[in-house]
Amino acid sequence: MIEEAQLPLSHRSVLLNDVVKWLNPSKGGQFLDCTFGGGGHSEALLQANEKNFVYAIDCDPSAKQRAQNFSLDHGNFRFYQINFSEVGCLRLPPLDGILMDLGVSSFQLDDGDRGFSFRHHTPLDMRMDNSRGITAADFLYKASERELATAIRDYGEEEYWKKIISTILGNRKNPDMKYADSFAKIVSGCIPNKRGQKIHPATKTFQGIRIFINDEIGSLEAALPILFDKLAMDGRLAVISFHSLEDRIVKKFFHKMAGKAIDRFDDKPQQDRISYANILTKKPITAEETEIDNNPRSRSAKLRILEKTRNILD
Ligand SMILES: C[S@@+](CC[C@H](N)C(=O)[O-])C[C@H]1O[C@@H](n2cnc3c(N)ncnc32)[C@H](O)[C@@H]1O
Repeated sequence: MIEEAQLPLSHRSVLLNDVVKWLNPSKGGQFLDCTFGGGGHSEALLQANEKNFVYAIDCDPSAKQRAQNFSLDHGNFRFYQINFSEVGCLRLPPLDGILMDLGVSSFQLDDGDRGFSFRHHTPLDMRMDNSRGITAADFLYKASERELATAIRDYGEEEYWKKIISTILGNRKNPDMKYADSFAKIVSGCIPNKRGQKIHPATKTFQGIRIFINDEIGSLEAALPILFDKLAMDGRLAVISFHSLEDRIVKKFFHKMAGKAIDRFDDKPQQDRISYANILTKKPITAEETEIDNNPRSRSAKLRILEKTRNILD
């Protein structure tokens, strides 16, 4: 068990002990952490065996700063500031374990200047890599109705998406749309105020816009096959997702690699399927109550593990 207190940063990594159990870093090996964030998972992988080497990726420039400090304490560590969908451009050895811990970090949510949280009066940015792409404020100003629906209805799973979209379209010239807290007020002002609601009424809208402007779904879909290719034989791919769409993509990819039907519409004959991997988690691993009490973000986390048994070109 890794004690939280042993970790260097005041940030709680989700399903940490489960990741360590399934990636089994104590036996020694080379690992890739695709979502460095605050470095909690990387730290645990390094602590498990002094011979381990951890490669880490994060697209956020502030994660790069944390990784620079982190590497002062860890020789067996290398960081790359890229999107994990671009991992194909890295020359890495065959990897014994790969981790993706998707979504945003608590650093990003808590940073008052990034626009991820509706608690701050700050420009509505929400880009994980704030050196490229369009900000959430620009997206709200320019997006078509269809793009807004993809973000708020599909990615945000927001029940009142129609009302929110018509309010956004009617407020495009309103300067309050450019700031996180005032945009959140516009959203909460246009939908019914449900009594006893635990989450802020703009939570799902913020989530959907964030997923859209960072192309989180596209990046995940692009990365999974490249990552699988980078696994050593018997290497394991662990993915923690927080959104049903992401989990569905991971589940389908795992089924495809394991030579199983990806959904009920997949009627390919079984003899035409090839298995390249074993799914080690029949059902996703979720956080226990104690972890959820200590870290509410873990409530929606789902961890799935795949083990490579064959190379695709064999
Ligand atoms: C949930 S946090 C990871 C926390 C980390 N596991 C820890 O223990 O501190 C997710 C991190 O992944 C990064 N990220 C999300 N999508 C990414 C992508 N497509 N490419 C690279 N980094 C990404 C975010 O910037 C964020 O820092």
